[in-house]
Amino acid sequence: MTKKTNWGIIGLGKIANKFAADLQLSETSTLYGVASRSLEKATEFATKYNAKKTFNSYEALVHDSEIDVIYIATPHTFHFENTMLCLRNNKAVLCEKPMGINSTQVKKMIAEATTKKLFLMEAVWTRFMPAIEKVMELIDKKVIGEITSIRADFGFRSEFNAESRLFNKALGGGTLLDIGIYPIFLSLVVLGIPTNINAMARMTPTNVDRFCAMLFDYENGEKAILESSFEANTPTEAYIHGTKGTLKIHRQFHQPTAITLYKNDQETVIELPFTGNGYFHEIEEVNACIRDGKTESSKLPLAFSEQLIQIIDRVKSEIGLTYM
Ligand SMILES: NC(=O)c1ccc[n+]([C@@H]2O[C@H](COP(=O)([O-])OP(=O)(O)OC[C@H]3O[C@@H](n4cnc5c(N)ncnc54)[C@H](OP(=O)(O)O)[C@@H]3O)[C@@H](O)[C@H]2O)c1
Repeated sequence: MTKKTNWGIIGLGKIANKFAADLQLSETSTLYGVASRSLEKATEFATKYNAKKTFNSYEALVHDSEIDVIYIATPHTFHFENTMLCLRNNKAVLCEKPMGINSTQVKKMIAEATTKKLFLMEAVWTRFMPAIEKVMELIDKKVIGEITSIRADFGFRSEFNAESRLFNKALGGGTLLDIGIYPIFLSLVVLGIPTNINAMARMTPTNVDRFCAMLFDYENGEKAILESSFEANTPTEAYIHGTKGTLKIHRQFHQPTAITLYKNDQETVIELPFTGNGYFHEIEEVNACIRDGKTESSKLPLAFSEQLIQIIDRVKSEIGLTYM
């Protein structure tokens, strides 16, 4: 029998709960250790998700020799320090998105993983969704011809609260890093690196973006029209237009269960549900990579994460968004 991957989790907030629930569905995973700044919280979490060990500091967890890979589920501004702590202690890492808050951080993280020959991946779970895999297959087969433009939005209404992770600059607040990353991810998968970026934002009193509109231009004239918002419950859909048809990724396009192909005046709906909360698929990818001794995923390579944050940095400079 193949050895199961022993997972550790750092930061036991909202996303860690959903992720841990999906780890329970994975026959190739064991939730080995969970680390929180509070032992009480770690103990409660461990009981809920059947983790073998609890740690009341992130440092203690990285020193456990049984752990194969650590999932970083802290706010954006801690991803760099938490990931570096793991890598420096010879642990593979799955780091929540965005991998860092700027490309300088991401470059250093990649360099450390590369030097140490350790697995590192950004937790862009959308990449591994069955519906997204299908979209990529249809695009590769040129079913909708050459891509001419994409349109994608991600928005939900959230009341302003200066202290919350979504609005607090010290925690990496703002739509761009939190949800704008998904439309940008899709544009990068489909159209690559833009030659020109235009962006406009509305800022909060904490000086992070509560709304961001982006227009990307590409070498052959393709366009991407992207939006992220904490001001309204926007459709959160994506449309990929090509010379022979259109693909729609249904709401919510970052965790889709269906796509529609519009071609020759016909509409074909393809249902492709995800397993569990949707994190199951990235978990299986990480386990397979670790089992095969890979240091990065070919589906979501480190160069992709570096390009993703470089595009985000360009948008930041367009809208005057800074951190630290
Ligand atoms: N892939 C997705 O679908 C998805 C969805 C939501 C969020 N995310 C990402 O996951 C990360 C965490 O988001 P979340 O919504 O889970 O956040 P959250 O509920 O606020 O949890 C973050 C956890 O980080 C730890 N932490 C360490 N230092 C902290 C500090 N100074 N302030 C607050 N928390 C601190 C805390 O865990 P302890 O108290 O246990 O130490 C906290 O529970 C973000 O980077 C976000 O982008 C991804």
